[in-house]
Formats: sequence, C-alpha cells, structure tokens
Amino acid sequence: MKVLVTGGMGYIGSHTCLALLDAGFQPVIFDNLSNASKAVLTQINKISGVTPAFVEGDIRNTALVRQTLEHYGCEAVIHFAALKAVGESTVEPLNYYDNNVSGTLSLLQAMDSAGVRRIVFSSSATVYGEPDYIPIDEHHPLRATNPYGWSKVMVEQVLADLCQADSRWQATALRYFNPVGAHESGELGENPLGTPNNLMPYVAQVAVGKRSLLSVFGNDYPTADGTGVRDYIHVMDLASGHVMALKARLEGYFACNLGTGQGYSVTQLIETFRQVSGKAIPCEFVERRPGDVPCSYANSELAQQVLGWQAHKDLTAMVTDVWHWQLNYPMGI
Ligand code: NAD
Ligand code: UD1
Repeated sequence: MKVLVTGGMGYIGSHTCLALLDAGFQPVIFDNLSNASKAVLTQINKISGVTPAFVEGDIRNTALVRQTLEHYGCEAVIHFAALKAVGESTVEPLNYYDNNVSGTLSLLQAMDSAGVRRIVFSSSATVYGEPDYIPIDEHHPLRATNPYGWSKVMVEQVLADLCQADSRWQATALRYFNPVGAHESGELGENPLGTPNNLMPYVAQVAVGKRSLLSVFGNDYPTADGTGVRDYIHVMDLASGHVMALKARLEGYFACNLGTGQGYSVTQLIETFRQVSGKAIPCEFVERRPGDVPCSYANSELAQQVLGWQAHKDLTAMVTDVWHWQLNYPMGI
C-alpha cells in the first residue's frame, strides 16, 4: 500500500518512512524542504536499500498534493508537515496558522478530491497545555499556551468535525510526548538547523564538543531533584505507532497519546548521557524557561488497548542511539 508522507524528510517523518518500509508499505514523501535536507533520502537508502519516491512541494499547493496522491495511487496519508518551534510561533503566529492550519485544510481538500480519506496526524502533548493532573490521559481538557499548540488543537477539531460529517473519513491524531533518539544504525537522527530548542539535541552537541555549556532551565521545580520531568519517547517507538495506526483500520476520529508513561528529569537525562558517552557535560542552572511545566508524562493505555501499541525502548537506548548518530555525523547531514 502506498502512503503519502507529508514532512517525510523531517526528523520523525524520515524514521517513520523506515518503519513503513519495514512493514511492507511504500512511502511517497511530500516535503518542501523548509526544515530538512535532501540527504535524508540517501540515509534512508543506506539503511533500507530503498529510495522512496519524493515530491518537493508545499502542502498549501492543493493541486500538487492532489496530483501526487493520484499519480502514485496513495491510499492513506501520514501528515507530519508543520512548523514546530514554540518560541517562533509566538513571534510569527500568522506564519504558523498558515503553514499548520491552512496547510492541513489544503491537504484535506486535496485528499477529498482524490478520494483518499484516511489520515494519521502528528499531534502533540502540547494540546493539554499546563496539565491539571498527571499522568495525562485523553480525557484531559484540550487547550494551548502558544500559537503552535493552538494550531494542533485546531487541526484536531477539524479532523473530528470532518469524520463526524462524512463517515468515509477516518482520522487518527497521535499526541506525541517528547520524541528523542535516532535510528539504531546511527545513520539517521535529528538534524536540527542552528541552535537546538530541545534538551536532547542540545546535550548531544555539548557532549560532542560542538557547544560548550548546557543551560538547565530551573532547579526549583516541585520535582524530586528540582529539574523538569518529561516523558521521552524513542523516535522508532513513535514510528511504529504510526504503522500500527495505519494497520488498525479504525473508523471515524480517534486521538491517543504516544508516550512511555515514565518521566525523567533533566538531571537524569544528563547523567544517562554522561554514562553512555563517557563525556563530561558541563552545565549550569539558570532561570526557568517561560511557559515550561514542572512535570509531564503520559497515560498511554488507550494506544495499547486500541492500537496494540506500546513503547519498548528505555532512556539508555534513546541516549545510546543519539550518541551513535552524533558521533557519526557531528555536523549533521
Ligand atoms: P521536522 O521539522 O523535522 O519535520 C517537519 C517536516 O515538514 C520538515 O521536513 C519540513 O521541511 C516539512 N514541512 C514543513 N512545512 C511544510 C509545508 N508547508 N509543506 C511541505 N512540507 C513542510 O519536525 P518533526 O520533529 O519531525 O515533527 C514532525 C511533526 O510532529 C510536526 O507536525 C510536529 O509538530 C509534530 N511533533 C513534533 C514533536 C517533536 O518534539 N519533534 C513533538 C510533538 C509533535
Ligand atoms: C517541547 C515543546 C513542546 C513539544 C515538546 C515535544 C517548547 C517550549 N515546548 O517541550 O511544545 O510538544 O517539546 O517534543 O519547545 N531544557 C533545559 N535546557 C535546554 C532545553 C530544555 O533545561 O537547553 C529542559 C526544559 O526546561 C524541560 C526539558 O528540558 O524541562 C525538556 O525540554 P524540551 O526538550 O524543550 O521539551 P519540552 O519543553 O517538554
């Protein structure tokens, strides 16, 4: 079965393409390369022996998306394409709503006219805003604290309304917690352009000597060691969640968390990185980052019940694979 993968050249999309190939699906990548390098195709080929079809284009180009769906005979879409920098979204909200919300509307219109009405959507734990309780389950109210988060809430609503209005549609929204890690081959991983916004790629760049010092944002949170706690999830576990969502053949709209259910603090992550890499990781405690929550982790029982999915890889595996990738490609690809 052919699957259109929007944003398939990006971090999570490229790893999901490998999982799709492994499971016998044929990914067709559609990406405008706004946050990815074409070299990703070479890396996918190195690992799998297959170079997926690739169309360079923007999801806001409805005609091109439709043409691509029809040309390749795609039967479903996995939709990763989005802008994702929280801070930037507060400065450029129009850009975020245009790319993430209008972009998705354009994609859905193209799908509708091509008669392709199955979609798996990249949502995020950000749709829970500041959590009322943890572990967070899917009954938790939806809200956001920034335009990026709202764009995810809005798209989820659009998908739910679409499935409600037309029973030919099936949409699954997967709410990722904190994706980290790399492919175990060390040939594919996160390739951030510029200064990383997120903890794991920052720690990796300090360990490899590309950056001198890690700032730990706050050590006075009400957590065991005072630093923020998150549910880090290996990107290949996340990738398998998408394959299982495609295989599940659900009806209507379905949304679920993808997390491990286990929280780790910033200090625990750094310590694991020190042990795995054998490197010193110089760090300093600084002020809390505005908008950060003390603690967030998932209840992932619904994904287990409905998709038969669960995460298998622990923090050591996540760090080991990131380190392998970082050592192989210290300057990225
Ligand atoms: P990424 O930036 O690595 O990948 C996104 C890809 O989409 C890039 O290759 C980019 O070039 C492409 N793209 C962006 N806008 C496009 C457009 N208009 N048309 C075509 N292509 C476009 O990001 P990622 O980390 O792989 O995230 C993938 C998805 O998962 C996003 O929707 C993101 O919001 C969501 N998500 C990510 C995280 C995370 O921490 N990485 C967490 C929760 C949810
Ligand atoms: C980020 C996004 C969130 C997204 C989530 C999933 C922001 C503000 N939020 O969340 O929308 O859903 O990723 O991937 O980007 N930290 C440091 N030093 C650093 C970087 C981070 O101490 O240099 C700390 C943070 O304070 C936090 C933890 O590390 O406690 C994880 O941070 P990060 O990797 O940015 O993820 P989130 O903030 O959870």
